[in-house]
Amino acid sequence: MAANPEILDQIANAPDLGEVEALRVRLLGKSGEITTQLKSLGGMDAETRAAEAPKVHALREAVTSALSERKSALEVAELDRRLATETIDLSLPAPESVGGTVHPVSQVMDELAEIFADLGFAVAEGPEIETQWYNFSALNMPENHPARAMQDTFYLEPRESETEARVLRTHTSPVQIRMMESSGAPVRVIAPGRVYRSDSDATHTPMFHQVEGLVIDRAITMGHLKWTLETFLKAFFERDDIVLRMRPSYFPFTEPSAEVDVGWSMEKGRRVVGGQEGWMEVLGSGMVHPNVIRNCGLDPDEWQGFAFGCGIDRLAMLKYGMNDLRAFFDGDIRWLKHYGFRALDVPTLSGGVGA
Ligand code: DAH
Repeated sequence: MAANPEILDQIANAPDLGEVEALRVRLLGKSGEITTQLKSLGGMDAETRAAEAPKVHALREAVTSALSERKSALEVAELDRRLATETIDLSLPAPESVGGTVHPVSQVMDELAEIFADLGFAVAEGPEIETQWYNFSALNMPENHPARAMQDTFYLEPRESETEARVLRTHTSPVQIRMMESSGAPVRVIAPGRVYRSDSDATHTPMFHQVEGLVIDRAITMGHLKWTLETFLKAFFERDDIVLRMRPSYFPFTEPSAEVDVGWSMEKGRRVVGGQEGWMEVLGSGMVHPNVIRNCGLDPDEWQGFAFGCGIDRLAMLKYGMNDLRAFFDGDIRWLKHYGFRALDVPTLSGGVGA
């Protein structure tokens, strides 16, 4: 069978992947024809072996490459056939019967983008795996800064080439740095996205969502910050009686810093946002620290700004009345049917963002 063009022909003409596999087993399997020939080399005298070995090895090589060539040709043909016959129209909304809905977090992110677009904010994104520089150091949290311990960070195994472990970003604030670095000043963006902390109970999940806001320009004051937040929360909750209270606070990346509470009131036995019977905290904010501006290569004497960070899941819970955060990420189809949105419920300001 040595140098057998017939067998190579047979492989090249194998009609399907099953036949290619059958030929592989017949020739190269444990007790396949070529395997047996290879084994028999051991029993030959040196001279015969020297003559036979190269032929058997050459045959094995020729057969191996013919098999893999035929296999990939058949796979490509199969893929072409499927591409030609199977079509799926991705522009069609999923029918109700499928049960698919838009998750409230996605809906709220779309609402945020719509509201802030109207105020001239672009939407920015950053990676979920961050370096410690972007997640901490550039945000005025140098190594050994106690603020690093405030956030229960997931650290990745460092790669061989790395001197420092990367982290799952603990907040969306690193996108501030990336934005100032990549587009300089002025900046007006929001950055919604996933963040990660090692924490889990009824109000904390290891992955959750935040939206960061950043404005950098000349002569920006806390007045701009307060007006922006008030305008945003009024549009988001679709009420004019939204009252904000700013409490002095501390974040390493802002100075001064303020935590922002929103007033609530009781309506039909439920606590709703609006009025001022009581207060609940909704976000952190402040004037961007000069060190942060400097870390991005800008001159803090020329450029100032404000920033804020807000939990998106919490906003969704307050607006749409869910009370257990964990249910957000269970993927329970009954929950999604109840709280999800139809694919065509695209939020618009004219239609009411939560329509
Ligand atoms: N990054 C903060 C956190 O996750 C939230 C935050 C506070 C963001 C103040 C800001 C800010 O931009 O100015 O707790």
